[in-house]
Amino acid sequence: MIFAETERLYLRALTYPELPRMTDLLNDWDVVRWLAVVPFPYTMKDAGDFYTDMAACYARGAPELFILAQKTDDLLIGAVGLHPPRDVNPEPGEVEIGYWLARDYWGQGFMSEAAREALKIAFARPATRLVGATTALDNDASQNVLRKIGLRNMGEVPRDYGALRGDDTVLKWRITRDDYEKESAA
Ligand SMILES: CC(C)(COP(=O)(O)OP(=O)(O)OC[C@H]1O[C@@H](n2cnc3c(N)ncnc32)[C@H](O)[C@@H]1OP(=O)(O)O)[C@@H](O)C(=O)NCCC(=O)NCCS
Repeated sequence: MIFAETERLYLRALTYPELPRMTDLLNDWDVVRWLAVVPFPYTMKDAGDFYTDMAACYARGAPELFILAQKTDDLLIGAVGLHPPRDVNPEPGEVEIGYWLARDYWGQGFMSEAAREALKIAFARPATRLVGATTALDNDASQNVLRKIGLRNMGEVPRDYGALRGDDTVLKWRITRDDYEKESAA
């Protein structure tokens, strides 16, 4: 099921035959070390659990997880998620954006394109009041993606979720609905 598309990408559901490719792409420490919730090493069982979660989200009618595939060949290259925030005290109406891209596809503007579309999906949902994200202090690539799509750096906060790297603090990013609407109208 294709949920949205950008100039070069589909944001769509994961299909069962893609589980081996998903497992392969996520068995890369340089991708996974920045993520909060992805296990490492990544197994077929992890991919299967992700598939089940994703199917449940789609069945509820409000998908939180989107696979990214290039329109040219429909091959899975990454994912973007719109999750309930992991913060201990989330703000009302907060949605957290997260993403990863297979290493061979970095540096070509794919995630800026996908994350911008995900932001649009998030704010098309009336309950969304703000979209937040967290990054490691030294994750320049991800910080650049967030900055490009309009999120602001709110500074360093204690990390209050599990992560593969044991960083004590992370950077918090956010954009409010007001700011998003002002920037979209400009
Ligand atoms: C973060 C990630 C998704 C970026 O995807 P991407 O498609 O390569 O990003 P883009 O090409 O859209 O780049 C966005 C901006 O960051 C810059 N950038 C890309 N890689 C960079 C790097 N390693 N260091 C610094 N800047 C970088 C790009 O130049 C671009 O800025 P520009 O348009 O001004 O040139 C990808 O590197 C990744 O999957 N990393 C591992 C997982 C991860 O970190 N997820 C996020 C956790 S918070």
